[in-house]
Amino acid sequence: QTIYLSDYTPPAFLVEEVHLTFRLNPKKTRVISKIRFKPNPASKSRDFFLHGEGLRLVSARVDGQAVEPELTDEGLTCAVPDAPFVWEAEVEIDPQGNTALEGLYMSNGMYCTQCEAEGFRKITYYPDRPDVMGVFTVRIEGDEKVLLSNGNLVAKGDGFAEWHDPWPKPAYLFALVAGDLVNHPDRFTTRSGREVELNIWVRPGDEGKCAFGMEALKKSMAWDEKTYGREYDLDVFNVVAVDDFNMGAMENKGLNIFNSSCVLASQETSTDANFERIEAIIAHEYFHNWTGNRITCRDWFQLCLKEGLTVFRDSEFTADMRSAPVKRISDVIALRARQFREDNGPLAHPVRPESFVEINNFYTATVYEKGAEVIGMLKRLVGDAAYAKAVDLYFERHDGQACTIEDWLKVFEDATGRDLSQFKRWYSQAGTPRLRVTDDFKDGTYTLHFEQETPPTPGQDEKAPQVIPIAVGLLGPNGDEVVETRFLEMTEAKQSFTFEGLGARPVPSILRDFSAPVILERETDNAERAFLLAHDTDPFNKWEAGRDLARDGLIEMIVNGAAPDDAYLDAALTMARDDTLDPAFRALALGLPSQDELAQTLHERGHTPDPQAIWDALETLRHARAEHFQDLAPRLYAQYQVAKPYAPDAEQSGARALANAALGMITRLDGGAQAGRQYDSADNMTQQLAAFSNLLQAGQGQDAVTRFYDQWKEDRLVIDKWFMLQIVHAAPEDAAKTTEALTQHPDFTIRNPNRFRSVLGALAMNPAGFHHAGGEGYRVLADWLIALDPLNPQTAARMCSAFETWKRYDRERQAMIADQLDRILATKDLSPDTTEMVSRIRNG
Ligand code: ARG
Ligand code: ZN
Repeated sequence: QTIYLSDYTPPAFLVEEVHLTFRLNPKKTRVISKIRFKPNPASKSRDFFLHGEGLRLVSARVDGQAVEPELTDEGLTCAVPDAPFVWEAEVEIDPQGNTALEGLYMSNGMYCTQCEAEGFRKITYYPDRPDVMGVFTVRIEGDEKVLLSNGNLVAKGDGFAEWHDPWPKPAYLFALVAGDLVNHPDRFTTRSGREVELNIWVRPGDEGKCAFGMEALKKSMAWDEKTYGREYDLDVFNVVAVDDFNMGAMENKGLNIFNSSCVLASQETSTDANFERIEAIIAHEYFHNWTGNRITCRDWFQLCLKEGLTVFRDSEFTADMRSAPVKRISDVIALRARQFREDNGPLAHPVRPESFVEINNFYTATVYEKGAEVIGMLKRLVGDAAYAKAVDLYFERHDGQACTIEDWLKVFEDATGRDLSQFKRWYSQAGTPRLRVTDDFKDGTYTLHFEQETPPTPGQDEKAPQVIPIAVGLLGPNGDEVVETRFLEMTEAKQSFTFEGLGARPVPSILRDFSAPVILERETDNAERAFLLAHDTDPFNKWEAGRDLARDGLIEMIVNGAAPDDAYLDAALTMARDDTLDPAFRALALGLPSQDELAQTLHERGHTPDPQAIWDALETLRHARAEHFQDLAPRLYAQYQVAKPYAPDAEQSGARALANAALGMITRLDGGAQAGRQYDSADNMTQQLAAFSNLLQAGQGQDAVTRFYDQWKEDRLVIDKWFMLQIVHAAPEDAAKTTEALTQHPDFTIRNPNRFRSVLGALAMNPAGFHHAGGEGYRVLADWLIALDPLNPQTAARMCSAFETWKRYDRERQAMIADQLDRILATKDLSPDTTEMVSRIRNG
């Protein structure tokens, strides 16, 4: 059943106050609700409907009188007064039987909840929509040592705790946790003097992995005060780590719940990348307290209102805490890998979708990451000061409300006097715009000619021109910058911009800092790219120049059987040798385009990608590069070993990243000898895992596979890495077999999303293996998605996106994938979640 944005109507009744009592029991938890409703003056309807799914209704009352509501699979209706009234209900639910991990469920003996987007209806009958906001008081009765809910603790005694959250909120922000947990405590004083108690709650044994997350939390709180003027608004902020969790984390008011992989960290068990990600996710969830919780979404079509903005805020935070250029480059790599892939395939949808069947299928790279890019463009267009003014107005005008994208854009219009109606197309048009550029130079005047075009996407054949902020700088023939970064604001389908008074034809640096999420197309040559790699003052475009060189060389190898490109090899060597450059930047610039990015590029250029040929070309180039770096790689490796005690900061991470890039080259020539030594001496997971990966890639991993497992078998997050790497680094012809074998390992379980993803998700991360000619990769994944769907439809549906690129490939592969998609669709009782995903992929 499809839901449309255009069908929005305000709720018939509003909630004033909610009292919930939970009598916890693994199989039979009782939830007793007492809710004060009042008619909504903004609605003409007086139909009383409450969502409810999988609930056993024990009793219901309206104003104290027993009633017998009409029940359906989706909820209930009941006759109620056209005046304020009190609704009471008692329901029974089964947390232990809840394998979908939505609503109230159990993970390792602890109770926890996940309500966004529509999980609260699995807890009790309620108007489960974000524009209904109520003040919650929650009483939890249970024997567990720790009983948590949102807001402030108001009472605690033997076998119970009572929580009150003074801030009205939608049901999706409700949370409850109960278990024998231990805490890592701290405190924070807000700038106006509120004393806030902070806790990270974990299973006994994990106490030692909380310190980093706690520091990240305090930094986030200070940053939001300083940068956005946003203060925390309760006496306590609790974070809980849960092992079985469908997503990364959840911003429940005052009680954030995290996938344990996104909060637990230690030097021995977490990589530098894990640390950075944990810091960013802690910040993200904390920032939601204002952008999401105090100001929430009117309906789920507006999801990007909170997610795009909060991703944008967390990326600004990481840029401030670490290196801004490195963060920007990493974000663009991820954007292209995930969002461009989505935007250029059958699952393409606007940042603000206009219809959906299952909202959980729209927690996508487009809503999150493109949503954040759109805010970045807005900030570029209006400037920093106007951005700050508009955002202040947003908080002032909409605090306590459930808002829309229109509300968000209106504060910018009011604060700046700009008309944003054309800019709004970024929210409604799907697809990645192509930006074609040509140039000419005459009598000291340099002209850039731009043309924009957005290809058709499912349901959207015609696209109108969008507002594209294009940051441009010009370099002179000697490599000096003759025109500093300037913003061109493109609004037409075709538009030219001139630069006057130039002595010679300049080299343009276009789309600096990746100023818009578009695909830039420009005829250029290797010499110019090498020039930009050497001289561009914009770190993003400097990186991009090297990337383009590598990518086009690889495309030549794949399509025309060319040899590795000397221009690339020389430019990479010069760059890597340049000690004035940040090691983290150099490590990024030594990264090669992924197999999937190459497949996408080939497809865009009219070729049918052959996954094996892509894999072979990358192998050949890596080998040639290792030889080209024969002298430099060991020097870099030695120079960037970190002597200081381990710290997961930007500086040390960058040094390790560069040393490990060098290790990759060394391994190609020494067959794993150096990697073996690093494995033996590693005192942190970054070093251990880099060595392990190298040994696996060199085909020398057997011993390490055993040793790694024996060392870490008690640590499930590390064992997830162990599963994943064996599959990601399996040779193309072995990947499906390895995956199947690992699903038979005693530590594999279909019940834990992290473990499931670390095996079946890893297969999709090995494109040459997943797409291997026989089609066994497709079959293995489909088998397991079919097995997972009845247990956990949300995770099964998300993982279907492994198939979203199927139309790129040859007829044989398309036919094999179509068979698997049809087989999934034909499965009896397939969930609406998976049905929606597979049909969109199949028919898109
Ligand atoms: N709001 C959460 C976050 O951005 C993600 C929740 C996702 N939930 C879901 N059902 N897809 O951190
Ligand atoms: Zn979020």
